Amino acid sequence: MEKYLEMSGIEKTYHSFGREIRALKGVDFSVNKGSVHGLLGENGAGKSTLMKILAGVEAANNGSIKLSGKMLHMKNAHAASQYGIGMVHQHFSLLDDYTVIQNVVLGMEPVKALGLLDEKKAKQAALDAANLCGFSIPLDKRVSELPMGDKQKVEIMRALYTKAELLIFDEPTSVLVEQEIKGLLDTIRNLKNAGKTIVYISHKVEEVLNITDEVTVLRDGEKVFSGETNTLSADEMVRLMVGTSLAPESKRDRKGFGECVLEVKNLKSGLGDKLFVKDVSLSVKKGEILGIAGISGNGQQELLDALFGLRPAKSGNITFLKNDITDLPPIARRNLGIGYIPEDRVHVGSCAEASVEENLLIDRRHKAPFNRRGWLSNKETEKLGKDLIKRFSIKVADGKDNIGGLSGGHIQRTILARELSCEPKLILAAEVTMGLDVLSTRYIHEELLTLRKEGVAIILVSSNINEILSLSDRVAVMREGEIVADLPNDGSLDSQLIGAHMLGIQNKQKDAVSYGGGV
Ligand SMILES: Nc1ncnc2c1ncn2[C@@H]1O[C@H](COP(=O)(O)OP(=O)(O)OP(=O)(O)O)[C@@H](O)[C@H]1O
Ligand SMILES: [Mg+2]
Repeated sequence: MEKYLEMSGIEKTYHSFGREIRALKGVDFSVNKGSVHGLLGENGAGKSTLMKILAGVEAANNGSIKLSGKMLHMKNAHAASQYGIGMVHQHFSLLDDYTVIQNVVLGMEPVKALGLLDEKKAKQAALDAANLCGFSIPLDKRVSELPMGDKQKVEIMRALYTKAELLIFDEPTSVLVEQEIKGLLDTIRNLKNAGKTIVYISHKVEEVLNITDEVTVLRDGEKVFSGETNTLSADEMVRLMVGTSLAPESKRDRKGFGECVLEVKNLKSGLGDKLFVKDVSLSVKKGEILGIAGISGNGQQELLDALFGLRPAKSGNITFLKNDITDLPPIARRNLGIGYIPEDRVHVGSCAEASVEENLLIDRRHKAPFNRRGWLSNKETEKLGKDLIKRFSIKVADGKDNIGGLSGGHIQRTILARELSCEPKLILAAEVTMGLDVLSTRYIHEELLTLRKEGVAIILVSSNINEILSLSDRVAVMREGEIVADLPNDGSLDSQLIGAHMLGIQNKQKDAVSYGGGV
């Protein structure tokens, strides 16, 4: 097959506080025309950096890029799009105040006479891109009002709209549910059949086995493997990605639970007349994991926000360890022992311009030993940073480096390190393993099961039904702001039933739902 893309000797060094971070150490990467090529590697391996260079978003320090034998001069992202290269970014690069349609056509707007935007054509283009993947999404809404899953869809639609010949997907499915993932994978297959070339980055082994023809694996800025996918088993792929095989995951032991930690009664929360959380009642006991399944945007994130105090309750009651916390601000809830992991780590969970240490300190900055009579102790802050960086294997040269310079998976680990180490009695967590490589995912699952054993109550929102099924003692399903099912996970519960509740077809055509069984 004709070599379509040839990247040779790509070097990239970032400079951060006088230190050099060698993200890519002379990487060769080539892709055949009309193929789907998986780009794999553990968190921080250099995948996004390599692809940002190809998309003109970052400049390489050294190396060359050829497309169909022709040398490219990659000055910026515009140049890349002129060469027919488009990218779906890991961290969304959308304009929050623009609508879905405006974001999809941004920079390549269809115009009428006098250069005016052709709104009809723009709408049709956005609709075509959504239909291509079978996505349903409100086209006229501003992106700021959308849940993460829909934002991910807009990123994908935007790349499809550009009609690029070479499309890069950087972890495109991290907050999509199985049905949506299936839609995307079908689209990728169709794009391939139409002659397009695809680079696909993912930590999800089943997806990579399912969709790619070839894979390249990076480790620590170097290429360690390149070859055909069908020569690899799932186990070999994991070993290539993280350098070791995985032991079987620990099983959640059956046990009794302690006293009630959180009790929510008839909670309503929303904006103006619109309720995102409609009359929700639930409870979680000591040592219990309550999984919340649902398609992104059905009120799961808003429920967690309301439980943490980021959104006011319109009515109803929240009782935490016998305290009425309904009207308490987040800091007071934190002080009582509630930890919070939001789904949007980059905008909500962390502060990009602050250091890793500062991001770790933020929830305990007012407490001893970090704070003594209003003065922060540098020594204690440094110690906290060092301890947590080691315990959670955060890849950063120095705790004083900005968190914004970390790879996606390591930003994620920093937030988890903070929230899981604050001795919480209740953890409110959304998409805990989003963007984590297989080893880190395993590590976080083990941490959650250990906390459960120690008596911590956990509410776990996830778009991944298999994750919910393996960790939760009970599964609640949210749809349109309501809890529509609350089911014990006693061995008989399966992903089909949960999927049917998510879609609201549990009594109609359960068999038509293709949940479970991988993608
Ligand atoms: N803007 C930046 N400033 C400083 N260092 C950076 C920057 N972007 C990336 N790096 C560093 O380069 C290395 C590679 O990062 P990259 O984002 O390419 O990893 P990745 O393979 O995409 O990981 P993940 O799976 O976590 O997304 C990491 O060590 C990261 O900390
Ligand atoms: Mg990345």
